[in-house]
Amino acid sequence: MTFVSGGLLAAEVTRAGGFGFLAIEFRFGIERFQADFALARERLGTPEGEVLPIGVGVIGWMLDAPIGVKEMLKWAIMQGVKAVWLSFGEDIGKWVQFVREADEERGDGRKTLVAVQLGTVQQMKVAAEEWKVDIIVAQGSEAGGHSWAAASSTATLLTQVQAALPAPRPIILAAGGVSSGAHIASYLALGASGVVVGTLFAGTEESVYDPFSKDVILKAGYDDAVRTTLWDRVQTYPWPKGIDGRAICQQLRDDDAAGLGIDQIREKIKEDAKEGNRSREIVWAGYPAAYIKQIRPAKDVVEQLHRETVECLRLGTTLVKTD
Ligand SMILES: Cc1cc2nc3c(=O)[nH]c(=O)nc-3n(C[C@H](O)[C@H](O)[C@H](O)COP(=O)(O)O)c2cc1C
Repeated sequence: MTFVSGGLLAAEVTRAGGFGFLAIEFRFGIERFQADFALARERLGTPEGEVLPIGVGVIGWMLDAPIGVKEMLKWAIMQGVKAVWLSFGEDIGKWVQFVREADEERGDGRKTLVAVQLGTVQQMKVAAEEWKVDIIVAQGSEAGGHSWAAASSTATLLTQVQAALPAPRPIILAAGGVSSGAHIASYLALGASGVVVGTLFAGTEESVYDPFSKDVILKAGYDDAVRTTLWDRVQTYPWPKGIDGRAICQQLRDDDAAGLGIDQIREKIKEDAKEGNRSREIVWAGYPAAYIKQIRPAKDVVEQLHRETVECLRLGTTLVKTD
């Protein structure tokens, strides 16, 4: 998760029994990324030369731009990261190939696991059949952060994947809206092999989200994380077509509802900057924000979700008459 996942969060999630991802950030240079990588190695006690049991996540359009992101990805693969997560690009297949070629160049015979995050079954069929990815992250419309505008709910997406991609198929992980173990149990029942947790980790001690964003998340209500293209129309990053995002920013929604055009909103943002007013800052987050009542260690979040999932699955068996 851009803005959220540094080396410490990634390592702590893996240490707690999940599998953490470190974001390759477009805003910082390779030294910061390498320092995060080293921090994860230290925290996990994985010496150099051994495969680091976390993944790195990178956004496709950032790989396409000449901003040093491609070099960071290559460096991580050569260093021996366990997995790569790719999302949101015009040609993700090209970057899957890039990972495969870097594996060849590393020359130790090991394959970096490739996960792609997608929102429609049509995309998933291409990822499975042409790109031959290892993992598909089926991200539904509930998810925090950017998403495919055409994505249905995570539950619907999982059902569609079962029908459209018969086994053998890549591992399917469900992403979107996980606030409790009950969500996880339901996604497992719908055929997912595992789930992706995003927003809940944004509000942890190890998250590198800035304190303002964490505070907004702590105060979020059930209806505050809204999915719209407004956020990216206000900002100027080159997101590919067909993508919107879920975030919290009541003031921008009010501006939009009051009929302000994008240029007028941008003027207001410039004024805000002079005055130190942060009310138009976009905080990327999903529905689970409303359930975050305190900033906790990531380990506690993983353990609680695990406990709740097991309880929920056990409860499920009591509904079945066995004799
Ligand atoms: C702050 C934030 C940043 C994110 N950044 C990325 C990203 O850089 N790349 C990506 O593929 N998904 C990103 N996501 C999506 C997450 O990886 C995850 O799939 C999603 O948050 C799951 O839904 P949830 O937020 O309801 O748990 C981001 C999510 C959040 C909340």
